[in-house]
Amino acid sequence: CGIVGYVGPRQSQGILLSGLSRLEYRGYDSAGIAVIDGDGDLGMRKRAGKLAILRDDLADHPLADGTTGIGHTRWATHGGPTDANAHPHLADDDKLAVIHNGIVENYAALKAELVGEGYEFRSETDTEVAAVLLGREYRANGGDLVAAFRTTVNKLEGAFTLLALHTDHPGLVVGARRNSPLVIGLGEGENFLGSDVAAFVEHTRKALAIGQDEIVAIRPDSVEVTDFSGAPVEVEPFDVTWDASAAEKGGWSSFMAKEVSEEPDAVANTLRGRIRDGAVSIPELDGLDDLFRDISRVVVIAAGTAAYAGMVGKYAIEAWARVPVDVELAHEFHYRDPVIGPDTLVMSISQSGETMDTLMAVKFARERGARTLSICNTQGATIPRESDAIVYTHAGPEVAVASTKAFVAQITAQYLLALHIAAIRGTLSATEIAQHVLELEAVPERIQHILDTEQARIEQLAHWMADTRSVLFLGRHVGYPIALEGALKLKEISYIHAEGFAAGELKHGPIALIEPGQPVFVIVPSPRESALLHSKVVSNIREIHARGARVIAIAEEGDASVLPISDEVLRIPLSGPMSQALLAVVPLHIFAMGLATAKGLDVDQPRNLAKSVTVE
Ligand code: G6P
Repeated sequence: CGIVGYVGPRQSQGILLSGLSRLEYRGYDSAGIAVIDGDGDLGMRKRAGKLAILRDDLADHPLADGTTGIGHTRWATHGGPTDANAHPHLADDDKLAVIHNGIVENYAALKAELVGEGYEFRSETDTEVAAVLLGREYRANGGDLVAAFRTTVNKLEGAFTLLALHTDHPGLVVGARRNSPLVIGLGEGENFLGSDVAAFVEHTRKALAIGQDEIVAIRPDSVEVTDFSGAPVEVEPFDVTWDASAAEKGGWSSFMAKEVSEEPDAVANTLRGRIRDGAVSIPELDGLDDLFRDISRVVVIAAGTAAYAGMVGKYAIEAWARVPVDVELAHEFHYRDPVIGPDTLVMSISQSGETMDTLMAVKFARERGARTLSICNTQGATIPRESDAIVYTHAGPEVAVASTKAFVAQITAQYLLALHIAAIRGTLSATEIAQHVLELEAVPERIQHILDTEQARIEQLAHWMADTRSVLFLGRHVGYPIALEGALKLKEISYIHAEGFAAGELKHGPIALIEPGQPVFVIVPSPRESALLHSKVVSNIREIHARGARVIAIAEEGDASVLPISDEVLRIPLSGPMSQALLAVVPLHIFAMGLATAKGLDVDQPRNLAKSVTVE
């Protein structure tokens, strides 16, 4: 998650450690550095846990310092957060060190090839595969590090930032970037690499952005950038305008702002490596088809935002896989003597994987003989360890207490699972699955479009509404749990009374709350995709509009029917009925954040709440 590289005249350890500490905002669960020392030997130290653990270890057992080095903070994806899995990874008789962010999708095939050739591995990571491969290429070409690096990255699939150094080449760090960030910091007689400018902003404000699929070689007096075929590319220098304090959150005003901006990536990374030729193929579930065969029911257990994600998932699992789904709050579930057994699939959803309520419910389900599957964002956490199967949401670390990017990733993972189960049970044709897959693949770009075109307007709206005392949220179908999530987010971070309702339930009670000026967000289904649902929601809007409600509609682009009956219309791109959930929630996350900010509240650390509640 955090990457730093240094070449120059200064001793590098302090520079690497302070760079890593400036990247701590990205979140991580282990850290390490590698340095070519004054004698031309490689020194390496890596530790699971916080940077302080690595720092203390280095203070107790110092490494010989040197002027070329790389440093890394890791958020576990392949292989749990252990010392062995931490980066750097070494190869070529420990002369070569590699650090990596991202996911190498084809690592299993590459590893099998290398094992077949007699190479040995010391970790479970995809990164070590890249390191060993680079070592092999380096030997094969007679010691040209840059060329070997180029051959290596051309063999890797997926998203990665990769940095390497070799003791044969002191004063050289090579790096590559594909779908994962990397920037160069230009110094006087020294140069830096970082996953963002925060890594080096205390040393230089001159930077170069590296483009997609580009390779860089930094030396104390030079920087060379090429594409993956080796052709030189022009890079534009820019000046960093941040001061060092803004850099701590990578320039974002809050972790939540950063994490909302990462919602497109959270969806894309959760899909990555799990779609092949228009079909869903989840490597973690290989050989586990029996888990899904002959199930009579799925019970989703979760708490908070994760439970709302589960409610969204229910619509897809029932519609596509034709299995009944119950969504249960974890803390209610196992105190109720529920009816579950070996034909029940209990699917837990937890960002942290440590929520005690959810963990207890999973253990209870196992005792009752149910099959268990964990949807989790944190490698090596307790809940996935207690489950028969795991599907990780690759949202990356979430730091702000209120969950945002993990929520969209949890929905994405369930949509994939729904299609996976549908394929096993034969409830959808290959063509139908391919259509849904296509639709899912379009989501990241559509979320990005909302962020690009609507964010500023929504923040302005939130600013105007800073004195509001109560906000209601309405939706139907998947828009219903999204309304609940919109209300929860507002309660959590802006301390405003907020309620979400199923729009159809309005006439059975909540409409009594409507009085002139009452703000109501309404999620409007697509008129093209579901004309009937759309017309019902438009009628609901008419009912509250007539009673003076201040209607803020979240509606598809081009849907003119809402204009005469709404005070504001927030636009989302056209989408299918299921993926609309992933779009409609984005304006609500922005709104909650905007309102809390307008009230001067700390959006990352709301009062009374904890990120991970490890007590029942
Ligand atoms: C806490 C957090 C919520 C989160 C819930 C479930 O209450 O404040 O934001 O939704 O836990 O967390 P989990 O890690 O299990 O998804």
